[in-house]
Amino acid sequence: MKKSIPEITLNDGLTLPAIGFGTYKLNGNHGATGITSAIDVGYRLIDTAYNYENEGTVGEAIRRSTVPRNELRITSKLPGRYQEYEKAVTAIQESLYRANLDYYDLYLIHWPNPKQGHFVEAWQALIDAKKWGLIRSIGVCNFLPEHLEQLEKDTGVKPSINQIELHPFFNQEEQRRWHEQNNIKTESWSPLARVNDILENETITQISKQHNKSVSQIILRWHYQLGSIPIPKSSSPERQHENLSIFDFELDETEMAMMAELTRPDGRINDQDPATYEEF
Ligand SMILES: NC(=O)c1ccc[n+]([C@@H]2O[C@H](COP(=O)([O-])OP(=O)(O)OC[C@H]3O[C@@H](n4cnc5c(N)ncnc54)[C@H](OP(=O)(O)O)[C@@H]3O)[C@@H](O)[C@H]2O)c1
Repeated sequence: MKKSIPEITLNDGLTLPAIGFGTYKLNGNHGATGITSAIDVGYRLIDTAYNYENEGTVGEAIRRSTVPRNELRITSKLPGRYQEYEKAVTAIQESLYRANLDYYDLYLIHWPNPKQGHFVEAWQALIDAKKWGLIRSIGVCNFLPEHLEQLEKDTGVKPSINQIELHPFFNQEEQRRWHEQNNIKTESWSPLARVNDILENETITQISKQHNKSVSQIILRWHYQLGSIPIPKSSSPERQHENLSIFDFELDETEMAMMAELTRPDGRINDQDPATYEEF
């Protein structure tokens, strides 16, 4: 069933739906079935990465679906081990071959890995790949303000999006404000905090009863009202549909304030602080 999803315009003019679909752990035939279902249900923004080893699966799901390619927004990401310029250029091409696509709508640097000192080179590769028509919009993940500032200082080009860990237990208030002030869109990874114990959270359960909605729907609606694009992953068509059904109700100021109370300084799922954490 198709849902009407609001559109967001990035600083380079590309439009994205206000909610997307995560694909981490959706691999092989099971993954392709899950992603095709998500497209059927109404998702148009699909998030993959070189390191998820499922760009091929995403490509297969696109071919199985009846939705025209130009109505989809496909994101992939450059791994840390390919941040040097020549390696990055090759990895972007390899990403496309794996998915059997001509272009990605969005391509992101997966982690800054600041100790390695190569993220500006990687950024230059993304800038060039965009000029060559391989990518429509370029962004990053897990970049702190100091990393974002360096990109713009060294290349004059600002990312369109920064995809960061964001959920009720880690609401990234300061980083979101910084993005807003600098016209960079926020995208939320693990928007449901991987559901570990969040589904039983008392505050969110209380709000969900008020609206006759599920806990997941309250959380995803909260992301939308914060101005961030959540990309929940689900392998089940029912939960995919549930997660998309968030545009027919609104959280009021009191409820938003109650949600804000849930954040904790140590609320990251796996303690992955981009200042020190590295992923290759
Ligand atoms: N840039 C980065 O560094 C980075 C890092 C992590 C993730 N990501 C991206 O962000 C996406 C989302 O994050 P995530 O996959 O880590 O976690 P998530 O979307 O917060 O949670 C996924 C988990 O929630 C369950 N779930 C989904 N909807 C549900 C619902 N309505 N009710 C109950 N359970 C539900 C799923 O199970 P079922 O499948 O069984 O429904 C799955 O176990 C990833 O898939 C990936 O694309 C990016």
